Amino acid sequence: MPNMPRPIVDIHTHVYPPSYLDMLRARKTVPYVHDPPSGAASRLIILSSDDNPSIPLDQRGRPVDSSYSDIAVKLAFMRWHGITTSVVSLANPWLDFLAPDEAETWAKRINDDLEVLCARVNREADPEGTRALHEKETLFAFGALPLSAPSAGIIAKEIARLKTLPHMRGVIMGTSGLGKGLDDPGLEPIWAALADTETLVFLHPHYGLPDAAFGGPDATDRYGHVLPLALGFPLETTIAVTRMLLAGVFDRFPRLKILLAHSGGTLPFLAGRIESCIAHERKFIANGGDTRGPQRSVWDVLKTNIFLDAVVYGEAGLKAAVHAAGGADRLLFGTDHPFFPPLDGKEDGEWLSVTTNYKAINSSFGDEDVAAVLGGNAVRILDLK
Ligand code: URA
Ligand code: ZN
Repeated sequence: MPNMPRPIVDIHTHVYPPSYLDMLRARKTVPYVHDPPSGAASRLIILSSDDNPSIPLDQRGRPVDSSYSDIAVKLAFMRWHGITTSVVSLANPWLDFLAPDEAETWAKRINDDLEVLCARVNREADPEGTRALHEKETLFAFGALPLSAPSAGIIAKEIARLKTLPHMRGVIMGTSGLGKGLDDPGLEPIWAALADTETLVFLHPHYGLPDAAFGGPDATDRYGHVLPLALGFPLETTIAVTRMLLAGVFDRFPRLKILLAHSGGTLPFLAGRIESCIAHERKFIANGGDTRGPQRSVWDVLKTNIFLDAVVYGEAGLKAAVHAAGGADRLLFGTDHPFFPPLDGKEDGEWLSVTTNYKAINSSFGDEDVAAVLGGNAVRILDLK
């Protein structure tokens, strides 16, 4: 890509390590991987709306090819799009579905696999350790948490262990938390561990909205993944972080740092409305009710606790995001690779999903902010060296 600033850092890019896919292959309920006997690409069934018995197994879910697990494919994708550094994360649904007694082992295995992967790629890119970040392709990672583990102590232990792995730069987490959403009081020790260790949380959707929101199970038949991905995902993120806010999580943990996927879903656009509804809510003590309610303003939380990725595919969304974040210095470029590949199957070329975001960034900001959003902010915020 000509005339692009460097480094370019992709903070929203996923992997399924081979060990994770093998674990999904052994399962028969969502999430699972099905290998068609025909030898066609494996199918990944991760959304419950995909697991429709009227669809033949070989066509259920989505194809999952080598771009999900082969790092050579990701490096080729990075090279093609001028990306110098990727902060990789396990894709949804992470480890949320595991039986409690398996969670700790799998979290360690996946996190160790990611750490070893980053170390190997970075060593191969710079055996002497003399090249600057913008002169080579490098990897860092967000770790996964054993959220279904039988005790919060196990989760906190993994948060602390991740701080000792040199390539880890935070954790990725879905919106269900321990299974009850992110306003669950059971998460208090986890928020405390994350805040105390200054661990950035990359908050990412998976569960979407119930089928009923889109007209029932037929919606997927008619419109495929458009409704759950275009609307379900961003609303899920918006609801999750608003529940955290309403429960006072940001009041109690003012040092918590959360990076929201897809530019915060619809949070930047709805922040004013959320603020207004809180101000008018009679349930809250400030208005004579019996519930504490949030003490900090949504705008304050957005400007101090929240970072947003720039994966919003258009100028209007990006401008709402930068306005809400209080400046371009809290916005970070991402691709969501390997989701949304080119439909002609030619993955070794330009991806529309990536160029759309590049264009939106380039047309929304001046040169200095473009360079910051594409890489400078990530280098600073994630301490990439
Ligand atoms: N992007 C993701 O990260 N996950 C999906 O399931 C779809 C798009
Ligand atoms: Zn993603």
